[in-house]
Amino acid sequence: MLNIALPKGRLGEKVYARFEAAGFACPAIHEENRKLFFENEALGLRYFWVKPSDVAIYVERGAADIGAVGKDILLEYEPEIYELLDLNMGKCRMCVAAKKDFYDDRRKTLRVATKFSHIAQGYYNSLGRDIDIIPLNGSIELAPILGLSDVIVDIVETGTTLRENDLAVKEEIVPISTRLIANKSSFEFKKAQIEAVVRGLAQQVEART
Ligand code: PRP
Repeated sequence: MLNIALPKGRLGEKVYARFEAAGFACPAIHEENRKLFFENEALGLRYFWVKPSDVAIYVERGAADIGAVGKDILLEYEPEIYELLDLNMGKCRMCVAAKKDFYDDRRKTLRVATKFSHIAQGYYNSLGRDIDIIPLNGSIELAPILGLSDVIVDIVETGTTLRENDLAVKEEIVPISTRLIANKSSFEFKKAQIEAVVRGLAQQVEART
């Protein structure tokens, strides 16, 4: 069996559709129920839905052989995995955002609210800027509004969340998209099967770009 971790949610459903189009279908996945894993014994495939930020852990530890995960998670946690393919989906940008009229006084430590402490720290280290990280788990946009932070480092997709909260992008750190990743030893032991998936998905990506 090839174990495949998919990120639960709308993006994961789109990712699965690419697997399906590439010939790696698992019809049971379309059943309306709360089941988290689905098998196609004939094709030797087992899919499971996991929280998007957990995909890399499943793959790193070998509970999944391959998985689809945002580059943001790979940059933040630096898991020991192989990155095989850019699926060219879930495109967004990791950005610094702040109130529209924010002015950065470089004499002061910058207060940065984020779910991505490692990415934020690395970015400001590269600029030689002192920061104080305020780690949050969600609704990051509230932090500058309530004076909890000066800026945020967060994902911007359409920009709607920033706009509707009177914030604006100040700097772009890195573009993000969904990647196909593999467990390192699975890549040796299940090489033929994994490479067949990579070829199939690469064709799908190409056909859509
Ligand atoms: C992400 C991100 C922003 C929003 C950006 O949040 O943290 O809040 O999406 O998308 P937009 O530019 O299209 O508005 P998510 O929905 O993952 O929820 P969160 O608040 O739990 O981080």
